[in-house]
Amino acid sequence: MSEIQNTADVVVIGGGVIGMAVARALTLRSAGRVLLIERGSLGRESSYAAAGMLAPQAEADRADEFFNLCSRSRDMYPAFAGALAAETGIDIELDTSGTLYLAFNEHDQEELAHRYDWQTNSGLSVEKLEGDAVRRLEPCLSAEVRAALRFPRDIQVENRRLLSALAVSNEKLGVRLLSGTTVESLRLEHGRVVGVETSGGFFSTPTVVMAGGAWTTFITSTDPATPGVRIEPVRGQMVCLEAHPRLAEHVIYSPRGYIVPRRDGRLLAGSTTEHAGFDKRTTAAGVSSILSHALEISPLIAGLPLVDSWAGLRPRAADNLPVLGASNEARGLVFATGHYRNGILLAPLTGELIASLIVDNVVSPFMQSFGPERLTATELC
Ligand code: GLY
Repeated sequence: MSEIQNTADVVVIGGGVIGMAVARALTLRSAGRVLLIERGSLGRESSYAAAGMLAPQAEADRADEFFNLCSRSRDMYPAFAGALAAETGIDIELDTSGTLYLAFNEHDQEELAHRYDWQTNSGLSVEKLEGDAVRRLEPCLSAEVRAALRFPRDIQVENRRLLSALAVSNEKLGVRLLSGTTVESLRLEHGRVVGVETSGGFFSTPTVVMAGGAWTTFITSTDPATPGVRIEPVRGQMVCLEAHPRLAEHVIYSPRGYIVPRRDGRLLAGSTTEHAGFDKRTTAAGVSSILSHALEISPLIAGLPLVDSWAGLRPRAADNLPVLGASNEARGLVFATGHYRNGILLAPLTGELIASLIVDNVVSPFMQSFGPERLTATELC
């Protein structure tokens, strides 16, 4: 390998949605030669397994820094989708029909009432619907639905098309994409990153972005005194059915599960939350629980063909929050990992935040609470 080939200004470890969004944002900001290293194939782990829901309001119980981060990233999606379409010709199928959250019993209704109250008090768009009104909107819904909230700004994206668009965009921008290559360790000298040791040899670089998702913990440094960030895999199984014509327009949640209607008639249903190590197989119990929750939402699902199922490994830090920011222990190391349930949602903003940190040395107020230092003394729960 020539010296030019094994040197980069920034090495991004991980070719999921976060790694690719970061590599693209860095290149758009003229960060120099960016090399992205992926152990498997680009965009084939948890980002591929996701459902593409961009729904911070449907999932949040309060307005905190995490909610602000998620909402801000969601609101970047229309421009992000437009830019990717212009760069690559790929339509990432941003669907702005909105999201419904259903209540089936008193407990669910209390949860909805709380969400409605804090969101209306915060000036957010949310609509309250009685059972009949929500069934008029989505006739597939169960007769048992008592009430619902509609979040018009919570939307969805076709995450697999997003991954293809990001890969093509990076390629066109001149990012070097190295798949099938495992980063074994970071090489440090005097507390500073000088490169990465990989299954394909050594690459020298002054700056490494760790976007390794569930595999983050495996990438150690040559200095054993440098504590890493511990990320654990949390399995989420998914089921794919098919409905022609489409069963619903909205993304639809209950407190127990969700369904996501795709433009082409696929209907995704999810998910499980399991501690199964790195085992990505689906199980009879997982698929059965997903289907029972989907059937609660719409009994019509019983007649749909089941066409696929899969599982992904959500990358979870001890406090469920993403890890964004520079390491205090290893100069030149920046974390963009641990996005847990929100990798697709947080990709556009994570790219921007990490690129401004590296190129302009700016720590955005959006990322201040998510630095890696909060985790060094914390054990996984
Ligand atoms: N973001 C949806 C899930 O993790 O199931």
